[in-house]
Amino acid sequence: MSQFDYIKEIAKYGLENDQEKLLSVLNELIEHSKNTKKLNFAIQLQSILKDSIRLQKNNSLTKVGSDQYFNRIEDKEVSDLILEKITSDYTLSNIVIEDKIKNELEFFIEEHHKIDILQQFNLPVSNKLLLHGPSGCGKTLASYVIAGELNKMMIVLNLGAIVSSKLGETSKNLSKIFKKASLDDCIIFLDEFDSLGKIRDYSQDHGEMKRVVNTILQLFDYLPQSSIVIAATNQKDMIDDALLRRFDNIITFSLPTEKEIKELIDLTLKDGQFKFKNKSITKQFIKECKGLSYYSIQKTLINAIKKSLFDKNRPINSLVTYIDTNIWMELIQSEKKSLGI
Ligand SMILES: Nc1ncnc2c1ncn2[C@@H]1O[C@H](COP(=O)(O)OP(=O)(O)OP(=O)(O)O)[C@@H](O)[C@H]1O
Ligand SMILES: [Mg+2]
Repeated sequence: MSQFDYIKEIAKYGLENDQEKLLSVLNELIEHSKNTKKLNFAIQLQSILKDSIRLQKNNSLTKVGSDQYFNRIEDKEVSDLILEKITSDYTLSNIVIEDKIKNELEFFIEEHHKIDILQQFNLPVSNKLLLHGPSGCGKTLASYVIAGELNKMMIVLNLGAIVSSKLGETSKNLSKIFKKASLDDCIIFLDEFDSLGKIRDYSQDHGEMKRVVNTILQLFDYLPQSSIVIAATNQKDMIDDALLRRFDNIITFSLPTEKEIKELIDLTLKDGQFKFKNKSITKQFIKECKGLSYYSIQKTLINAIKKSLFDKNRPINSLVTYIDTNIWMELIQSEKKSLGI
């Protein structure tokens, strides 16, 4: 079935209120999206499905004023702060990184796979990870990889949004989220971790900000061994030294080298539906891509693929589409220009 057929069936069963069939076709669409490499879409759908199942479970009638009622109000406050709750199918094969970083990630994952052995020997488990480096180089992707490899749900918190919207409530809410995450055995992903430092610079509310930083310090110090916190930033300098010291591992992501650019191109074209006519052309392109992030390189390549696919002269029914290298070169150059590289 094509994606459109799934959408038609979803509309039909949704309007007919046929929950059972709706769920079954949604699950099929998730499988279909995974098989057709629309992993992000599959993850989002899975997440929507899980949330709705959870909501249905909680949605039994609630008497106003009962404990349950207050619990639900509190839950809502907490869930307002959660940007996303995701599950992930990403594995280490989905990310291109230098061997040293790959080894570090693998070791971190292994520690949690074999946490029983470490605990048996009373050895501490590394569970606080800071990922830093330029935008578009795989920090968020690496967190998805860890969640996928460990098969854990991940709560994504945008500290920037939390801190700026409700500074006064932040300490309380962070504590609640950490507690909830450890009960549900979720990974906590703190994106824009540097916003903790930034706000201190221009907010009048120094006292409150200090309290937030202190709360985080305490939450880190008392984090159960099986819980995992991953923080990401592209401005490590903005982060308080006391906070930096709390991390067990600090991993630095960098712009791709020529070797990694080549691997990224291979990863992006791994399905074999899109190819370059002339293999040696890629060498020139790898050089041209130097200075761009993984994200920018992949974006220009995917746009070149789309444009090549829409080309009127493309032979219909051909199994392979050749990528128009002139278009790709133009896209790379305009990306570099717009980023001032
Ligand atoms: N190392 C990588 N290997 C493979 N793909 C990558 C890599 N880095 C980035 N990408 C591609 O770029 C997209 C965006 O990357 P990601 O969100 O991980 O960047 P980031 O480092 O978190 O950036 P930001 O600091 O802006 O949040 C990824 O979803 C992936 O498609
Ligand atoms: Mg990110």
